[in-house]
Amino acid sequence: MLLLNSQVLVYPKGSMRRISLIFALIALISGCSDNQEQDSQTKTTSQEVVHPGQETYMMYCAQCHGVTGDGTATIQIDRPARSFIDGGFSFGNTIHAISKTTSSGIPGTPMPPFADVLTPKEIKDVSEYVRTFADVLPEATLDETELVVHTRPVVARGLLPSLGDGLETHPRGVMIGNPDRFSYEYDGNPVRLLAIRQGPFLRRADWGNRGGSALELLGRIVTTIEKGNPNPLFYSEGKALRTQLTSTNVSGTYGTISYNLIDANEKHIGDVTEYCKPTTGVRTLVEQHFEVTLKTPFEIKTPEGSILVGADKLPSGRHSFKIVHASVGGGS
Ligand code: HEC
Repeated sequence: MLLLNSQVLVYPKGSMRRISLIFALIALISGCSDNQEQDSQTKTTSQEVVHPGQETYMMYCAQCHGVTGDGTATIQIDRPARSFIDGGFSFGNTIHAISKTTSSGIPGTPMPPFADVLTPKEIKDVSEYVRTFADVLPEATLDETELVVHTRPVVARGLLPSLGDGLETHPRGVMIGNPDRFSYEYDGNPVRLLAIRQGPFLRRADWGNRGGSALELLGRIVTTIEKGNPNPLFYSEGKALRTQLTSTNVSGTYGTISYNLIDANEKHIGDVTEYCKPTTGVRTLVEQHFEVTLKTPFEIKTPEGSILVGADKLPSGRHSFKIVHASVGGGS
């Protein structure tokens, strides 16, 4: 309480904004506020006090997110921007999370980065303003079991939940989370990409349970590969090659996964390293990049619904190619 009072005293007198702050503090101190933002607005409407983030919002956000924050765009975009009224934040609804989304944008979607356009204060103000659209918006709490991806990729291994009816769980799952907020859900044995997600990374619900319960994957699914049960990618003389995990690496921008290729006679015949990244543009496409070294000629069978960039039959040797996966679950 003392601290709050001294903060008020530091400000110069006279500004409308300060008055609104004082009202908010009075509301706080008198203990009648569950939602300061909302209260400070209703208590001061008679004085026409505008939120410090409103002007920025109207100039830079309203054309896509709607003047009232309902997600109704006035310009043409290929998928809907979020309605802030419904509070549907897939990247978290703390001021910190909204500021981060606003400053870095969402790669692969029309949501642009504002880091070079707005000052840190403007970003913080506009993020606070965004939060005022929803009636009740409980702050998402970050408990200590949540793995958050900051500036470097993060890899987590554990039991992955089933991706749908009739699909298995994956006890040796590998999750790769990249700083661009895309994450990749791999079966670790055999190695195969199952699904692509976007948003927060995961929560280790398994820690309290000695690895017995599945990782809680927090991102929303952008694409599942062949409905979450993909066929092998690599073949030699028509026979599928077995994939055996060797390592993961998080030293670059994108986390990588490496594995051996084993033929029907249990012979090691090649090595693969792959990583995924979203394309930039108005549509979400994710490219799965491969570096392959093989001792024998091989064939690639592209997953249904995806596109191979390169040849599907290659001689032995070293090759790079990519498979492009389209987003199926964009928007909200
Ligand atoms: C060109 C259109 C466009 C503009 C301009 C724009 N946005 Fe967005 N924004 C989007 C789209 C589209 C999405 C949803 C992306 C997706 O599908 O995940 C989005 C998502 C968001 C989200 C993520 C919500 C979540 O899921 O967690 C936040 C926060 C956000 N925008 C804030 C802002 C702010 C603040 C501004 C202005 C400074 C702004 N946006 C300007 C198009 C736009």
